[in-house]
Amino acid sequence: MRKYVIAGNWKMNMTPSEAKAFITELAPCVAGKDGCDIVLCVPYVDIYVAAEAAKGTNIHIGAENVHYEAKGAYTGEVSTAMLKEVGAEYVIIGHSERRQYFGETDTTVNLRTKAALAAGLKAIVCLGEVKEERLAGITDEVVAMQTKLDLAGISAEDLKNVIIAYEPVWAIGTGLTATPEQADETCGVIRKTIAALYGEKAAEEIIIQYGGSMNDKNAKELLGKENVDGGLIGGASLKVDAFTTIVDAAN
Ligand code: 13P
Repeated sequence: MRKYVIAGNWKMNMTPSEAKAFITELAPCVAGKDGCDIVLCVPYVDIYVAAEAAKGTNIHIGAENVHYEAKGAYTGEVSTAMLKEVGAEYVIIGHSERRQYFGETDTTVNLRTKAALAAGLKAIVCLGEVKEERLAGITDEVVAMQTKLDLAGISAEDLKNVIIAYEPVWAIGTGLTATPEQADETCGVIRKTIAALYGEKAAEEIIIQYGGSMNDKNAKELLGKENVDGGLIGGASLKVDAFTTIVDAAN
């Protein structure tokens, strides 16, 4: 019933010309593979070029963040209207690197998510525990709390445009992957939290991705788990071959 969403998060990689070359090479590799939605979330300056290169393909383009105010004196920030005009359909919100290095909190994640949804963007809301929290045995509490705070005040109707990316922080860029069982279990906790907030139907429908060192080797097993509906992929989304293999796994 749920359709996989395979999304790349390029982070601070790829110039506009590199983005264009990458998408031109990727498009024929993933053409017709419509068993999943394919998204590339790219640096702001790449969005326009990426969206142009992706026109007429099954690749969708997203941003890696967005500000919650519509306009004004917010030096260095980018609004939802700006993103939409250059061709973004999706936006990542609350990535752990934003939370770790740029002071992002559940409060600002919630504000950004609301702004994105109000503008008609699809929000990929990231959450996940840090290593100390997993070792302390409080992963379930942490992800449930983040889910509640990040989605506070968001209607059931708007929730249809939310994807949750469960990204255990200890697995990001480390080569350490959550086991398929750990990924399934924690995505399941998030789904139960959604059920408590929005009801069983919404919980059945929401897409919950796993992210954290997902690659061409481990994707099939992770995506085979009941509660894992896709991937948010960093490093492996920068390689056409590896990303195509992950799309194939989802298909
Ligand atoms: P890696 O796939 O490089 O571990 O990054 C995961 C991630 O942060 C995706 O948002």
